[in-house]
Amino acid sequence: MNDFNRRRLLAGLLAAGGGALATPHVFAQDAAQRRNLLETMTFAVPSFQLGVASGDPSADGFVIWTRLAPEPLQPGGGMVMAPVEVRWEVAEDAAFRTIAASGTAVAHPELAHSVHVELAGLRPDRPYWYRFRCGGERSLAGRAQTLPQAGARKDRLRFAAAGCQHYEEGHYTAWRRIAEEPVDFVYHYGDYIYEGRDTGSATRLMNGRPFTPMRQHVGQEIYSLDDYRRRYALYKGDPDLQAAHAAAPWFVSFDDHEVDNNWAAGLDQDGSPPEVFAFRRAAAMQAWYEHMPVRRSSMPVGGSVQMFRRATFGDLMDMHVLDTRQYRSPLGNGGRNGPMNDDFLSPQRTMLGDRQEEWLFTGLAQGTARWQLIAQQVMLMQLAVQPAGGGEMTYSADQWSGYLHGRERLLNHIADRGLTNVMTVSGDAHRHFAGDVLRNGGEGPPVTAEFLATSITSGSDGVGLDDPYHRSVAGNECLKAIIDRRGYVLCDVGRDTFRGELKVLDQVMRPDGELSTFATLVAEHGRPGLQRG
Ligand SMILES: [Fe+2]
Repeated sequence: MNDFNRRRLLAGLLAAGGGALATPHVFAQDAAQRRNLLETMTFAVPSFQLGVASGDPSADGFVIWTRLAPEPLQPGGGMVMAPVEVRWEVAEDAAFRTIAASGTAVAHPELAHSVHVELAGLRPDRPYWYRFRCGGERSLAGRAQTLPQAGARKDRLRFAAAGCQHYEEGHYTAWRRIAEEPVDFVYHYGDYIYEGRDTGSATRLMNGRPFTPMRQHVGQEIYSLDDYRRRYALYKGDPDLQAAHAAAPWFVSFDDHEVDNNWAAGLDQDGSPPEVFAFRRAAAMQAWYEHMPVRRSSMPVGGSVQMFRRATFGDLMDMHVLDTRQYRSPLGNGGRNGPMNDDFLSPQRTMLGDRQEEWLFTGLAQGTARWQLIAQQVMLMQLAVQPAGGGEMTYSADQWSGYLHGRERLLNHIADRGLTNVMTVSGDAHRHFAGDVLRNGGEGPPVTAEFLATSITSGSDGVGLDDPYHRSVAGNECLKAIIDRRGYVLCDVGRDTFRGELKVLDQVMRPDGELSTFATLVAEHGRPGLQRG
């Protein structure tokens, strides 16, 4: 008997009969009618190894998440293949003296024994603490927070925007620092995992410089549901990442690497037949749902996820979280960056798809909060990049510059309605970029502004100010700050100002890199564009 099977047996079960159980939550038919439910079990090894998380807060609740995985990297996470009962409780204080809600959830093997409890009926604009219990074990506690009621007076909000956390390329120190920030929430722009294979421990070139992986992926490039689950388990085992999840509720989205580099709707980057790629995408979406603190409304159906959604923070801010992957047209120019061309400019091509675009435009036009925040994945600024060897300016095929007609529609909508309170956050580019967003390749006044958050680790230490890329983008007057370091953007939203601090770490290849603020930029309410703060 191998170690895995022995421990599975040790994770022995004391199945009890059915019986009426506490509050069903996410699944209407859950605990009360199950015939194969394990109400009691014991674990030979700790089962809450992937931490806890909360997300998608509203004024009266949020989602709390965990996953039972005594052996996270083994098939099935080392769990017995049966539905298992998990107790949960939500308290008004960190010591759990005043319990606000409690109940029983079922961790389903179909969902990798993840648990998503969708709370409702809580009080607005206050912190709560939560934890889980199963098999005589208790998880660590997490802290969540409800939002203010729509329209209620709110004077200040703080949040971190972050993403791109390649496991091999550095310590998650930035997550540890975010856990220590007094934020109301975290916005994750995507690239929570990377799909590539273990590339070995040897030193290689990355961005033209020698790089030795700090730690390694397990296995080959990921395609199957088991592959994706194991990749999430590997990443979520990191204690700094777990600390950031436990510290505040997150609004998560996804970008490309949750599935495959530069995928677009039904197409991958490799030219696989769409009907074949559909299986991979469905597996990736299921694993994403299983590991993210998102609502039931984001559970995949037929390989698709309802990811674009809105949150309202009293009268201070509305946040429109976009999905720039599932509905976009195929990348133009064969997916290659290049000079502006008919593909990039084609009115037939879309970044958001008609339904999402209409949803966003309506939401922006009808929003009554002081600020309207568009939280999305890829650069909205239209950066012209001078190739190192000279020649024509080039544009990214994967970012909004590759979907210029859709970009103009969005910017025209904002400008033509006189919306002077729109801000945007994004990521993906593995540097901090902060700047103004202008129409028609740079004409007229700024329409909005963008904080593009650098990566948590992707790109490793970075080169700081000694960055040859600065020369390539020097002609872009819209760009107010750029730096190749790892970190996050800390946003501080007041009634009159929207302030972004570009947080950077001096290095991530050793633990405990030193955090500093590279630049602070501020937008004034009613006056689109960034000023140095
Ligand atoms: Fe990335």
